[in-house]
Order: sequence, then structure tokens, then C-alpha cells
Amino acid sequence: MPTYHAIQWLDGTLRLIDQRVLPHTFTHIDYHDYREVAAAIRDMVVRGAPAIGITAGYGMALAARRSTAADIVTLRSDLADAAVVLRQARPTAVNLFWALDRVLKRAADPTLTTLEALRATVLDEAHAIYAFEEASNFQIGQNALPLVPDGAKIIHHCNTGPLATGEYGTALRVIIAAHEAGKRVHAYVDETRPRLQGARLTAWELQQHGVPHTVIVDGAAAHIMRTVGIDLCVVGCDRIAANGDTANKIGTYGLSLAARAHGVPFYVVGPTSTIDFDLPSGDDIPIEERAQEEVTRIGDVQITPDGVIAANPAFDVTPAAYITAIITERGVVYPPFAENLAALKT
Ligand code: MRU
Repeated sequence: MPTYHAIQWLDGTLRLIDQRVLPHTFTHIDYHDYREVAAAIRDMVVRGAPAIGITAGYGMALAARRSTAADIVTLRSDLADAAVVLRQARPTAVNLFWALDRVLKRAADPTLTTLEALRATVLDEAHAIYAFEEASNFQIGQNALPLVPDGAKIIHHCNTGPLATGEYGTALRVIIAAHEAGKRVHAYVDETRPRLQGARLTAWELQQHGVPHTVIVDGAAAHIMRTVGIDLCVVGCDRIAANGDTANKIGTYGLSLAARAHGVPFYVVGPTSTIDFDLPSGDDIPIEERAQEEVTRIGDVQITPDGVIAANPAFDVTPAAYITAIITERGVVYPPFAENLAALKT
């Protein structure tokens, strides 16, 4: 078992693996200020919906720790300010807002009357968010096992491993758990333009776990389904609307269409922290638009002619109709999603 941890809390310091430079450089960055944490999320030092939520929780812990407030009212106000800054880091993954709301709710507890108690509670909630994701991820792998046949060839998009979630992973956990259970699985890893989370991070994580895999360009997925024969697709999620429509890394929607055309089961995999029960449909999910340079350049090298305009939506929405099932820690949810997801609401 690999021993890397994307997110660590080390006695008042938040330590993140710098995912921008993997796989060739494995290095950490330490954070002490919530504003720097917001920048780390925006710049994708840390990325992946659950990992973004966990990191934001620790960003709040740093805000509580570093606040110079002399009374509890001021400390709560400082926390509210920090949450505003952290909320602006990235718009699509609902885990960011879910985590911040959890911390703010705990912080509002009227029985907390001292600065020390409030600071300790905020940190405790950040740890609880991490623990929730860790336990959920593990359970997701267990819940998915019956859906993965021995010998399965599986297409995976983006990166959804331990790097994206804190521990274990979600869609990638499905593949890793099947491998650990002794099933002979082979992962086809979408490279995932433009940030190459598949080629850089998923391939690295599958190497760490010893899972057989092949990297493919995104445009090869349909061809591989037709020629090699794919048994299932697994993808993560950044926000699942109440009707099951799912936002995930750009290219997920197209993959779902190819899967439908070839009769391949298409599974969305994620913890219930990624379900936005307040959002009726995927049409309402905010889609992050990132810098054009992520498309026009690879690393430092410009690949397009000067002056080219590029569009760079970082996510797309897969309509619920193209999703076979949603695998959560609370079970595998099948259509009708509106009804069956609502049953998960606590
Ligand atoms: O832009 P990213 O790298 O944060 O996008 C990540 C994804 O789209 C993942 O599939 C999703 O967050 C789920 S991570 C378990």
C-alpha cells in the first residue's frame, strides 16, 4: 500500500502534495494562511472535489488559529470572512461549499464561549470532514465490488484517486479495490486534456498501487470501446444535482455518450457530500471556465498559432439519462435518480 497523503494537518500546519508537478516531482507545500489555501485550491496544487472540501476545512482551521480576535464575536466574524474567500476558490465542486457550511455551523454553536473552545471545534470539524471522506471512499470501493467482473477492462476519466480525495479515492478506488480483491482488472486511463490529470496523476497512482493500466488520449475512448471491448466506465463527480445530472471533468459527457452507443455501463462514483440536494437539475450547476493558456499551451510550450482564442470549460454536465448508476458510500443508486437520491438525504 502506498503511503502518500495529499493533505496532512501537522500541528498547526497544512501540508499539501503539489499535484501540479507530479509525476516527475514529488514535493509538499506548507500553508499557514487561509488566503494561501484558497490560492492553492484555485491554482490546483490540490484538486478533486473531496480533497478541495477537506482542504477548505483546514483552511478554516488556519483562519481560526491565526485570527488575532480578542473576543468570540470577532473570531466568528473572522471565520465568516475566511469562508467568503475560500468559497471563491473554485465554483463547481459542491464539496467546497458543503465543507465550509459544516464548519460554520459548528462554529455557530452557542455553547462555545471561549476562543480556545471555538478554535478547537473548528479544527475538530475539519478532522471530521477528512474522516467522513476517508470512511466513505473505503465503503464506496466495497459497494462497487459486485459491479466489477473478473477480467474487467475499465475506462476511467480524470483523477479520482487518493490525491483527489484525501484517502482511497472514489472512481479510481473502484478499480483499486477490485484489484486488491484479486480481480484481474485493466484500466484504460483517459489522459484528460487540458490539465492531464489522467496521464499525470491517475497513471502515477495506478503505478503506486500496482494496477495494470494503459493511458489513452481522450479521443480514443470510443475506438477502444469498439475495438478492445470495455466492460464499464467509472468517473468521479464534482456536483450531482437532485435529478442525477452530474458535473465532472470536461470530457465526461462525451464519454457517457460513447458508452451508451456501445452498451457499456457508465458509473458515476462519489460520496454523498457531492450531492447538491438543493439543485433541481444539472442546468443550474456553475461550470468553471479556466484560463485559455491551459488549452493553448502544454507546459511552457505554446501549441496554437499566436492570437488563437480557446474556450476552456473545466467541467461538463452528463444528463442523468446516460448514467447507469451512482455509486455512493450509502449504496448503489439506480434510476429513477430523483426519487432514489432523495432517499439518501439525512
Ligand atoms: O479540475 P479537477 O482536477 O479538480 O477535477 C477533478 C474531477 O473532475 C474529478 O473527477 C472529481 O473532482 C471527483 S474527485 C474524486
